[in-house]
Amino acid sequence: MSTTLEPEGTYEGVSAYHYDNTAGGPLGSHHERWDAIAAVHSGFRSSVSRGFWVVTDGEAVQTALQDWRTFSSSSVTALDPDPKFLWIPEMLDPPVHTQWRRLLGREFSPSAVAAREPEVRQAAVELIDELAATGGADVLDGFARRFPTRIFMRLMGLPEEDLDTFLDWVHHILHLSFEEDPDRSRQLAAITAVSAYFAEQIASRRQTPRDDLLSHAMTWTIDGGPVSDEDLHAFCILMFMAGLDTVPISVGWALHHYATHPGQRAEIIADPSLIPTAVEEILRVYAFVVPARKATRDVEIAGCPVRAGDMVMLPLAVSNRDPDRYENPLDVDPRRRTTNHIAFGSGPHRCLGSHLARLELNVALEEWHRRIPDYRVAPDQDLEETGNMYGIKSLRLDW
Ligand code: HEM
Repeated sequence: MSTTLEPEGTYEGVSAYHYDNTAGGPLGSHHERWDAIAAVHSGFRSSVSRGFWVVTDGEAVQTALQDWRTFSSSSVTALDPDPKFLWIPEMLDPPVHTQWRRLLGREFSPSAVAAREPEVRQAAVELIDELAATGGADVLDGFARRFPTRIFMRLMGLPEEDLDTFLDWVHHILHLSFEEDPDRSRQLAAITAVSAYFAEQIASRRQTPRDDLLSHAMTWTIDGGPVSDEDLHAFCILMFMAGLDTVPISVGWALHHYATHPGQRAEIIADPSLIPTAVEEILRVYAFVVPARKATRDVEIAGCPVRAGDMVMLPLAVSNRDPDRYENPLDVDPRRRTTNHIAFGSGPHRCLGSHLARLELNVALEEWHRRIPDYRVAPDQDLEETGNMYGIKSLRLDW
């Protein structure tokens, strides 16, 4: 993928490009492309598939995410305005969404998350200790993916011996390239397996409830009635999609950033009190989520004449790297005072797992640098990032 886009004329008076967010590319290419296009446009039309609008004005992205009445979450995939599936709570609008969030909020509150800190730290330490002795590894497979997945499984009450199967499913659903899975049969098989797995977990808790998130959710009342198995299933699938790949992506960016910026690394090692802001800066600069919404009415946003039913893509990176909002926006500055980024989104769907994600990222950076302070990117590898959510595909470090 090139970092520049070839213009394709105009659509309803607005510049059009063949912008395909699903394509992977060389490391950093998505962010470079957003920076370049946001410098000249507040919004544009993508001609991919049935076409959709893309907002590249940082402030307008945030405004749209907050205006759920106009920008509905009934579809959150720009290429699929009428999905045949439902992810809970991601694809619900208020007021039903608000009820889910109120109940889920207790499980993911700052105090509930803080109580998990000892087990989060222990999981990180065990994995890093194992790696430290090896002298080098693919840190995405060896640490970044394994660590949060272990925590996620405990939170959901899933058996830890299923960890490797889980990692395989995530890989097959989210990371296989076209060459590896040309007819998408491996992806489909993994989706079917995950779906059956959660159906089984739900059935077993209906019989024998336990002290875990899934069992708690079975006792909730939403919209005046108990939560159905179908809704529980839709919730599990969303948790799988939202909770598993995100922290690994951020850990990957953090380790790559500090491997390639040894001076900055020395600073956070010398003064670990800088780590919380460093984490926010990594989240901000390497924002990788690209939400989309479906317009419920005709509306103009960032110069785009959106019609009811159109899909609108709202890349968080353009707000987080906006030169009007941040001085030297691309610098990861652990002393920056303005850290009000929107890497976790904005509005009613702002990330439910943000406190947990922050804890995991802080613990990962603290414990990693305590045990492996000196590391570098291993030679002879082509570093690439995925499309959709921008994560490093694989990253070998030496130490
Ligand atoms: C660095 C890590 C993470 C980032 C950057 C991130 C980012 C986001 C963003 C941007 C959204 C909003 C999407 C939208 O507006 O359409 C979101 C939603 C969500 N996230 Fe996260 N996330 C992270 C980690 C997690 C974790 C660890 C969990 C759970 C274990 C989680 C669970 C969720 C859920 C359930 C939603 C849907 C909330 C709703 O629709 O109300 N996330 N996340």
